[in-house]
Amino acid sequence: MSYDNFNKILELVYARSPLQKKKIKKSLSAQDGSFFSSAEEFSVNYINYLQSEQIPLEYAVDAYLKMCGNMLKSQISFMKTGKYPVEISGEAYENVYSKETEMKSYMVGLALSQFLWSSHYRIYSYLVNIFRNNSDTISSYLEIGPGHGLFLEKAMTHLKKDAELTVVDISATSIEITRSIMRFFHQADFGRIKFHNVNFLELTLDELYDFIMMGEVIEHVNNPDKFLVKVKNLLSENGRAFISTCVNCPSIDHVYHFNTVEEIRDMLNACGLQIRDEQALPVEDLPIEEIIDRRITINYCALVGRA
Ligand SMILES: C[S@@+](CC[C@H](N)C(=O)[O-])C[C@H]1O[C@@H](n2cnc3c(N)ncnc32)[C@H](O)[C@@H]1O
Repeated sequence: MSYDNFNKILELVYARSPLQKKKIKKSLSAQDGSFFSSAEEFSVNYINYLQSEQIPLEYAVDAYLKMCGNMLKSQISFMKTGKYPVEISGEAYENVYSKETEMKSYMVGLALSQFLWSSHYRIYSYLVNIFRNNSDTISSYLEIGPGHGLFLEKAMTHLKKDAELTVVDISATSIEITRSIMRFFHQADFGRIKFHNVNFLELTLDELYDFIMMGEVIEHVNNPDKFLVKVKNLLSENGRAFISTCVNCPSIDHVYHFNTVEEIRDMLNACGLQIRDEQALPVEDLPIEEIIDRRITINYCALVGRA
């Protein structure tokens, strides 16, 4: 099998950033054939979607590199101060979520990271397997903070044909990107999705959900516990939620600092959520003692249910 489309993305990244070239090549050397097949399938589809939106691939690659550059700056400041650059979520809203140009670039860059960062790919493929293995038990699906829309697209691909999907995001740009991705890949089923452009905490929902997806949202808010309690209260009796977040992960819009994986687990438990399965994925391939000592980012995700 040829990986022309994935290679096209890689070549553009490599030509623009020797640092990314080094990091990505190292991480790709540990991947197997199934990764490259998935990466090629993603690349064909995403490049087609970008074309349908008249977005050049070069824009997407620049967006990815801009996001990496912003993360590096935040990381350098974190190493000096021990703090994330933003203290209140309102600032993240003002600086990023409400600014169309900024948010669009961020979300397109984040979409590419799903196949350029091994920890994001592991979370992505883990979630797709959950959708595949549990689709017959899910009739109602809620997603909080879809951002780039890729996880909602996968949910629609794998869930039952009569499942109802509800989406909430505080950013009008995220909602627009998610709408466009769903129109492109699932035009016939687009009518099954309800979109809400509002702060999740301000949204009143009257139903319970069999599956709730909240990927990389709780580190963006000052009160993650309120989000988790609300998720717990919205789960149906045997419902499951997929929550992802990160430890020591400074970024232009990260507000809540989890210092350890244990802190995340404690908060999930305190909010009435029982961890059924989890993954803790350091972003560097180093001994865990060094990851902890040097406060290197750990991506974390958990499949949870009501305790
Ligand atoms: C980093 S993106 C996550 C995208 C995707 N879920 C993922 O895991 O890659 C965070 C998303 O959460 C949204 N968000 C942040 N605060 C929110 C809030 N209070 N209510 C709803 N959405 C929120 C942002 O607008 C953004 O789309």
